[in-house]
Amino acid sequence: MRLRNVKHAKELIEKNSHIVIKKPNEYKGLWNKLFNNSNPVELEIGCGKGKFIVDKATLDKNINFIGIEKFDSVIVRGIEKLLEKPLDNVKLIRIDAENIETIFKKSEVNTIYLNFSDPWPKNRHAKKRLTSKKYLDRYSNILVNNGEIRVKTDNYNLFEFSMMSFINHNKYIIEEINLDLYKNLPKDNVQTEFEMKFVEKGNRIYYLKAIYKGESHEKTV
Ligand SMILES: C[S@@+](CC[C@H](N)C(=O)[O-])C[C@H]1O[C@@H](n2cnc3c(N)ncnc32)[C@H](O)[C@@H]1O
Repeated sequence: MRLRNVKHAKELIEKNSHIVIKKPNEYKGLWNKLFNNSNPVELEIGCGKGKFIVDKATLDKNINFIGIEKFDSVIVRGIEKLLEKPLDNVKLIRIDAENIETIFKKSEVNTIYLNFSDPWPKNRHAKKRLTSKKYLDRYSNILVNNGEIRVKTDNYNLFEFSMMSFINHNKYIIEEINLDLYKNLPKDNVQTEFEMKFVEKGNRIYYLKAIYKGESHEKTV
């Protein structure tokens, strides 16, 4: 079933409020209550059609996964996957990540995945990149101390921009950088939809893991 039609997408979202949370700001500070456990919360921002978040939730039932996507017409593909394979430990939210601080309170999130984020190649759009300072500030208001941000992309310019953005931010340190993830692929790597396409085309995949160091961290570089 292909649902490009936005009207149908809206209907499907409306009908499946157990999957796509209708008023996510009402759960700010209460996500563990919604999941009915005290497990860590992990987000994929820009989850697209949901393959990664659904596969992660299938593999690790002790983590609460939330996929965030700004387009109705894309998030419906995630709903379809979860209707086929219901999972208690994954929810979807249809918002622009600009508003992420209205949905999660400080220290409510353990890990953020930024997989193949839109590169916004023009300089005048740099602020829209999900690893710009503006976004790193927002993430610092929802991550737990020592929480992680994991970035995967095939776009070297975005990767370089992201590295610099973390290096220049006084609340993050980069713990891991991999300039060719598939050269020695970690066993626990979960492929995203875009990753599958890019790997098939032979594109190199870049990866980094940054740690949020909270208020107390002082940069020496
Ligand atoms: C290139 S796709 C990657 C999808 C998926 N992560 C993957 O790797 O297959 C980027 C997705 O991020 C979504 N996105 C971009 N900016 C966003 C934002 N500010 N808030 C929420 N979603 C966003 C887009 O709508 C798109 O579905």
